[in-house]
Amino acid sequence: MAKSKSVWLCQTCAFEAPALENPCRSCGSWNSLVETVRDRPSARVRAAGGRTAAAPVQPQPLRAASADRAPRLPLGVPELDRVLGGGAVPGSIILLGGEPGIGKSTLLLQAAAGIALAGGRILYASGEESAAQIADRAERLGLMATVAADTVEILAESEVGAIAEAAHRDRPTLLIVDSIQTATLAELEGPAGSVGQVRGSAEVLASVARATGAAVILVGHVTKEGSIAGPKTLEHLVDAVIMLDGDRHGTLRTLRAAKNRFGSTDELGLLEMGEKGLAGIDDPGRAFIDDRDERAPGAVVAPLLEGSRPMLVEVQALVAGTAFGTPRRTGRGLDTARLSLLCAVLARRAGIALSDRDIYANLVGGIVLDEPALDLPLALALASSQSDRPISRTLVAVGEVGLLGELRPVSGLARRLREAARHGFTTAIVPAPRRGAASEPMPEGMKVIAVRTLREAITEALGE
Ligand code: TYD
Ligand code: MG
Repeated sequence: MAKSKSVWLCQTCAFEAPALENPCRSCGSWNSLVETVRDRPSARVRAAGGRTAAAPVQPQPLRAASADRAPRLPLGVPELDRVLGGGAVPGSIILLGGEPGIGKSTLLLQAAAGIALAGGRILYASGEESAAQIADRAERLGLMATVAADTVEILAESEVGAIAEAAHRDRPTLLIVDSIQTATLAELEGPAGSVGQVRGSAEVLASVARATGAAVILVGHVTKEGSIAGPKTLEHLVDAVIMLDGDRHGTLRTLRAAKNRFGSTDELGLLEMGEKGLAGIDDPGRAFIDDRDERAPGAVVAPLLEGSRPMLVEVQALVAGTAFGTPRRTGRGLDTARLSLLCAVLARRAGIALSDRDIYANLVGGIVLDEPALDLPLALALASSQSDRPISRTLVAVGEVGLLGELRPVSGLARRLREAARHGFTTAIVPAPRRGAASEPMPEGMKVIAVRTLREAITEALGE
């Protein structure tokens, strides 16, 4: 087979050299150059996917372009569809990232079954597991009794040319490649998982998506450094990057878009890993609130808005004396830098000295969030723990805190408070609206206390 045009790509700095050189002239690393396809890789991919004749370019009005918009392909896993913005777009390529063992293969097998149920065809190429192992998982998920058992085609193959060939022949609605780290192009010499192979494989699979109209989903294991498949190069090659996260010892999993060419990146998907795979959490309700009735110092509930979904999350804080050395600032589920900053603001603007204390804070239920609206509830939880005075279990608080101890309004306040009212909360401490801002109607039965500063908020929540 004739080799395609290739360059040598440095695995350390992504420098492109025309021929093998050692060390890399750009960053000086030794043995870091890997051969990488420059051109469209193999003839069979080119023949099927390449443009025919050079058609004259022709702009079109927006209205005509809008008629061209591809319909969405719902994957039958509502929480995944929510994060994608209604489903996958045919002809596009999505990267599903996450730590090993978090549930990526499980989620995609469920999506495959969803497509099968809707009458689509699925090609599931796996270089990670054998066909029998995948069938085993399908059995456990209860999919063998469904139409998926006949319409999900398993290909235990990691060579991308062969996968592309199968896709051009079978024309699947959905092509899953598990994983991009095991994918290789026969034309390249580098090992599976090298930047050259990962990038080359993703490029070919993107062209398969465009040529066949299949929605392509790549699985990408997140490395210890937190990046998918090494250098960032892959993120630019795909239309969407969806991350599956969670604590491996817990059952909660979250889905978020790190990039989404076809929708927003604000939506949060909530799933629970159980006996029968991942189940969506449609209405989180009180899932992120501790069930106890009695009031304990250091806890307050925050009405948050993740994308289009309002949800209630309990923030807990513990302020304790430092035994020796530098005081600790430990946050679980929330931003530790934000925690330190709030401690400083509390000390300077609200007279609550925390500088010599150990501080721990977390969100209930193992969820990880970084909404600025969490500032006020976190600050109140800290103040409550430090003063050893509890906050009412029927109170919610929300708001961003500025460096001067001032409170900034948050978006969608009425929606947040409606959700709080639905779950029996009766009082809300919120930032006063900006002067001249239109006031939204607040839910009935909810006492809304609007305050301008952190100090006022603490007085309202804890009393004098
Ligand atoms: P998997 O999808 O293989 O993870 P990944 O592809 O991201 O590496 O999921 C692995 C874990 O999920 C495994 O430890 C077992 C667990 N699991 C369940 O708890 N319930 C189930 O129904 C399935 C299929 C897996
Ligand atoms: Mg897997």
